[in-house]
Amino acid sequence: MKVLCIGSMNLDHVYMMDHIVAPGETEAVSEIKNFLGGKGMNQSVALAKAGANIYHAGLIGPDGLVFLDACKEHGVNGEYIRQIDEFTGHAIIQIDKHAQNCILLYGGANQKLTEAYVDEVLAGFAAGDILLLQNEVNMLGYIVEQAFAKGMQIALNPSPFNEKLDEVDMTKISIFLLNEIEGGQITGLVKPEEIIASMQEKFPQAKIVLTLGKDGAMYAEGATQYYQPIFPVQAVDTTAAGDTFTGYFLAGLSEGMPIPAVLKMSAKASSIAVTRPGAVPSIPLRKEVEEALAK
Ligand code: RIB
Repeated sequence: MKVLCIGSMNLDHVYMMDHIVAPGETEAVSEIKNFLGGKGMNQSVALAKAGANIYHAGLIGPDGLVFLDACKEHGVNGEYIRQIDEFTGHAIIQIDKHAQNCILLYGGANQKLTEAYVDEVLAGFAAGDILLLQNEVNMLGYIVEQAFAKGMQIALNPSPFNEKLDEVDMTKISIFLLNEIEGGQITGLVKPEEIIASMQEKFPQAKIVLTLGKDGAMYAEGATQYYQPIFPVQAVDTTAAGDTFTGYFLAGLSEGMPIPAVLKMSAKASSIAVTRPGAVPSIPLRKEVEEALAK
């Protein structure tokens, strides 16, 4: 089974600071670092590091060729990535002394997908393959329609949540991977159990993975539910923690692993990622995750 991620590639400019800047305030930074990121690429790298057969598709500008090298380095098939005459997407990320972040996003090339490009990419995939999407590229409504018509299983991480998701027919989604804030935005509810119940009522066809930050993660499919607590660690940077969880979860699911084991592996991978700076470079290898679980 192949997994395709049509998703963002961002150059992440990370500013370490005492606290996240407030309106009207000027705040000195203690350190600046540049990393590769973007929810799409982060999740593709997590899938690759977990051992999945992952293809990443998306657009970069001339300043983004480094993503092709990253695909080779981490085992992501990047043959569908195309270069256009536009800036590569970028993110300005502030990280405070508690490892909390806040992100400013410039879409750039990520927002220039066309129907012709989507058709070209999807032509390489078939019924039963998994398509993974986030909300950092354009054309989501079209991509979902075309992939669904082909019989692909569609996994959606509706992040960041905004009105662009209105174009997506969510009844065509097989797997939702979302945090409690996004779950609240979709359902209008706050309590995790209520969010899950409402998601299941709206989308009875879907598996739901709801991450709850320090409170762990929940999984629901029909009458089956599982809960996975976090592995507590001293975090230095929480960027890409959710992306790591998502990539590992889909990798385990595509292997046919039992869901409780998939949840445990994903939570461990995510707990390792937050102990390291950056997005792509923070994502652990499957071997590291398994060794950590065996301790
Ligand atoms: O989920 C983390 C990612 O969000 C960062 O890598 C940044 O690029 C933004 O897309």
